[in-house]
Formats: sequence, structure tokens, C-alpha cells
Amino acid sequence: MAIITYIEHSGKEHKVEVENGTTLMQGAVDNFVDGIIGECGGCCSCATCHVIVADDWFDKTGSPADDESEMLEAVPILSKTSRLGCQITVTDELDGLVVQLPEEQF
Ligand code: FES
Repeated sequence: MAIITYIEHSGKEHKVEVENGTTLMQGAVDNFVDGIIGECGGCCSCATCHVIVADDWFDKTGSPADDESEMLEAVPILSKTSRLGCQITVTDELDGLVVQLPEEQF
């Protein structure tokens, strides 16, 4: 289990417990965090789960796979630490992770 902090574009913070094996997207949806939609259910085909990983956590989340990188090209504003929340699986290693949510998901 990990405590994940989701920060909405407005600055509102949500600190939630997310079980290991759950994706960041699902952890947000299950805890009613505004700003993540997860329209495709996590199959990497909608990019409505865009998150911006805090710089000091980016290496721990791993690198995006090719299909994720392709989907990320479609987001309106891409950051160097942008990821798709459905492609990051929570482990104990991610306890304390902080992600920002974009102004809008499309
Ligand atoms: Fe659709 Fe992540 S939920 S790409």
C-alpha cells in the first residue's frame, strides 16, 4: 500500500491510500479525485488519466512504454514528467508519490 498525493490543477490536494497492484488512475477514480477520468478503463487508449509526476519521483515510476508515449503525444500540454496514470502500478516503492493533474483531460 502507498499513500499517493494527487494535486488538482486548482491546488486542491487528495492524499489517498492505494493498494499495491492498483494503478494510479484507478486509485484516483476509486477515491473520487476530480481531474482523472480513465475513460478507457486503463487500456492505454484514451489519455484521460494524464498525470504530471513530481520531478523527484519520476525515475521511480519508470519510463513510459512505446504505446504510452504515443498516447501522451495527444495530450494538450505535455510535461517532461507526464505519464498516463493507468500505466503506473502502485507498489510500496511509490509510497509518498506526488502527482499533479492537468487543467483538463480531453
Ligand atoms: Fe485510458 Fe489511461 S485510462 S489511457
